Amino acid sequence: MDQLKDRILQEASIMNNEVLKLDGLLNHQVDPELTVDMGKEFARLFAESGITKVITVESSGIPVAFTTALSLGVPLVFARRKKTLIADPDAYTERVPSFTKGIVTDIMVSRQFLQADDTVLFIDDIIANGDAARGLIKIIERSGAKLAGVGIVVEKAFQAGARTIREQGIRVESLVRIASLEDGVIRFES
Ligand code: G4P
Ligand code: NA
Ligand code: NA
Repeated sequence: MDQLKDRILQEASIMNNEVLKLDGLLNHQVDPELTVDMGKEFARLFAESGITKVITVESSGIPVAFTTALSLGVPLVFARRKKTLIADPDAYTERVPSFTKGIVTDIMVSRQFLQADDTVLFIDDIIANGDAARGLIKIIERSGAKLAGVGIVVEKAFQAGARTIREQGIRVESLVRIASLEDGVIRFES
């Protein structure tokens, strides 16, 4: 999405060689029209996949997962993050480390909202090392639902997350792939 590349160049600031601040676009403010267009693009890419549900992890994945679900005409489920976890027999949970925050959290999806006859599309805003993504993929596997693929707004291709998911044989579609942030310059993969 060229429109998205332009917006990233306008809005993003480089924190260091690994981290891009995207508060103006994904992590603090959202542009509704642009987010609708992102959702339409994911819906187009996965139109033939028989998606019954879109799934993401709170919080920054929710706006784009919502517009994708709207375009596909299916519900959105967002995995919740729990700080204290009292074992819940009615939920799937996974413990995941967070790259930027340096903390560990538990993500949780109620069994009620993810079932073996679902075909799910996992949408997320940014993928780095892919820890949260791997946690949610494990939850999807345990539920017996079919994972049709993963849609990512910004893939940091110099980190291993998206690659390792593709290596598992899972389809990953990214709207924008960033090759590097070195020397204070955002370089996109063509
Ligand atoms: P991943 O599993 O999603 O790849 O993420 P990873 O554990 O590597 O990173 C954890 C969190 O850090 C994720 O947000 C991810 O979106 C965010 N993150 C990673 N790299 C960057 C970056 O370069 N810029 C920004 N802005 N965020 C980055 P989260 O913990 O899921 O939090 P939330 O934003 O959904 O609340
Ligand atoms: Na995030
Ligand atoms: Na996210």
